Amino acid sequence: MTDYPQFISPIVSELPEEGVLSCSAPSNIALVKYWGKRPIQLPENTSISFTLDNCKTTTILKYKRRNVVGEDFDFDLLFEGKPKPDFKPKIQNFLYRIQEYLPFLKQYTFMIETSNTFPHSSGIASSASGMSALAYCLVQLEKKINPDISDSELLQKSSFLARLGSGSACRSIEGPITVWGKHPYIDGSSDAFAIPFPFLVHQNFNNYQDTILLIDKGEKQVSSTVGHDLMHDHPFAAKRFEQATDNSTKLKEVLISGDLDAFIQIVESEALTLHAMMMTSLPYFILMKPNTLLVLQKIWEYRAATGSKICFTLDAGANVHILYPYTEKKEVLGFITNELVAYCQNGQYICDKIGFGAKLL
Ligand code: DP6
Repeated sequence: MTDYPQFISPIVSELPEEGVLSCSAPSNIALVKYWGKRPIQLPENTSISFTLDNCKTTTILKYKRRNVVGEDFDFDLLFEGKPKPDFKPKIQNFLYRIQEYLPFLKQYTFMIETSNTFPHSSGIASSASGMSALAYCLVQLEKKINPDISDSELLQKSSFLARLGSGSACRSIEGPITVWGKHPYIDGSSDAFAIPFPFLVHQNFNNYQDTILLIDKGEKQVSSTVGHDLMHDHPFAAKRFEQATDNSTKLKEVLISGDLDAFIQIVESEALTLHAMMMTSLPYFILMKPNTLLVLQKIWEYRAATGSKICFTLDAGANVHILYPYTEKKEVLGFITNELVAYCQNGQYICDKIGFGAKLL
């Protein structure tokens, strides 16, 4: 029996024959990081993220009733217009995990057509936007079958299902700031789905900017599954999970008060801690590249020289996310083009900003 009966949709006899749905969902960037999970896809600590805007996946879901319902799911996949057999096992596994919540899945043949606004091998987490877009499409299909589902149930269920595809994906359904993982001082927070940050956010964070420097676009050295697993026997794991809870408490206050110096300290410390966890696991990894470090140094120099509120965060890779207030956009972009582009692979970077989550197109 599931722990989450509220997400099981009722079985109905009248199912739509066929149709097409199209949804988009963005990537997100964690401020307090999720690193460490327990089965199935439950986080060891609270994480808080900015939902992005431009970096997104668009998914077209074509569905058609099957004449004969088989044992297994029936789906095909096109990525940027071409068949992508290596994505299929991940989707198959996702459908398997969510089938008890969407009992109609095996009644349909699905064609899933997906494309990203950012280059696939850029190191930008495509699983967050991809899984959230697909989960959102499937819940939109459920709404056609079960129109009684309310908008808030629809969002929560999308986040719940997206989590079963990829943990961080649950934070991409809504925006501009979301919280995933139960936290004692954040009402409504849950390990099972993300919620929008439930307090009034200070205007300093309106339209906050994220410019992503593509330092190394190579294949991921460590998959996130392997990375999360490394936290199981990690000597510092318990302390790290405690620290993430404390940082979430502090970040909550900062998002309300608008204290950007405190914001910088929490966010940069979280990024470096994430990498410190990888450097101190067994096996150990260094996911930063020499250019990553040079960029971080430049950011610190620029901040010291100008009093700017620019700061960085990192994913489980070499790329650098530069976060800064909208009011500094012109100056910071000047700094990036003059001084940082030289450290990017093929001079590539992506300008993004805080955004609002998944959409039905
Ligand atoms: C470093 O969500 O990609 O980006 O649940 O295994 O799919 P899975 O992991 P994933 O992990 C993301 C880790 C991170 C930090 C974060 O986004 O919070």
